Amino acid sequence: MNTRYILTSARERDIDRLAAIELAAARLLIGHAPEPVLKETTSQGVLEEAQRNGHLWVALADDTPVGFAHVEVLEPDAAHLEEIDVDPEHGRRGLGRRLVMQVCEWAAGADYESVSLITFRDVPWTMPFYATLGFEAVPTFELSRALRAVVEDERCRGIDSSRRVVMRRPCAAA
Ligand SMILES: CC(C)(COP(=O)(O)OP(=O)(O)OC[C@H]1O[C@@H](n2cnc3c(N)ncnc32)[C@H](O)[C@@H]1OP(=O)(O)O)[C@@H](O)C(=O)NCCC(=O)NCCS
Repeated sequence: MNTRYILTSARERDIDRLAAIELAAARLLIGHAPEPVLKETTSQGVLEEAQRNGHLWVALADDTPVGFAHVEVLEPDAAHLEEIDVDPEHGRRGLGRRLVMQVCEWAAGADYESVSLITFRDVPWTMPFYATLGFEAVPTFELSRALRAVVEDERCRGIDSSRRVVMRRPCAAA
């Protein structure tokens, strides 16, 4: 029987499942990110706050989270898609695409001008995946102070900045 997926705002009870999804999805990035980074997960406290603020969405299979998207508001006019992960057992079924679009629709409705994210330049599918959803690479000189700080934080955690790309989608495209 085909699994029926539902996308929804995360509920408090969903939060405990998200670290396992993040770790499982990170295995897709082996060879692209340092191993210690692949073992990092978003802290419970950050996820709880995001859930309370309505900045966390989940994809549910039979009421169990199998993917999530987490937004941080780092600057007044933009929403930052800080994390998106789909359990590979449920991958390639459109959930990643639906989660990104859910965030973009929410951001447009909340009057943000754009949605940003940071991804790997050299993972073959990531930039094309976001490009098909309307995201474009942002040149380094155009980066806001907040996004520069995120890239710098990543660098301190061992992620090579030259392999990262900031992408942005105007909400007007929604
Ligand atoms: C990126 C991610 C969220 C996509 O989730 P998903 O539910 O598998 O995505 P979708 O089913 O919506 O895929 C949309 C398209 O993206 C591309 N794509 C996504 N994942 C891919 C993969 N592992 N390999 C090749 N292409 C992929 C394909 O073109 C796919 O369309 P298709 O299946 O019709 O060919 C998921 O792979 C993931 O959690 N990855 C680990 C974390 C990560 O890479 N985050 C982003 C970079 S920082």
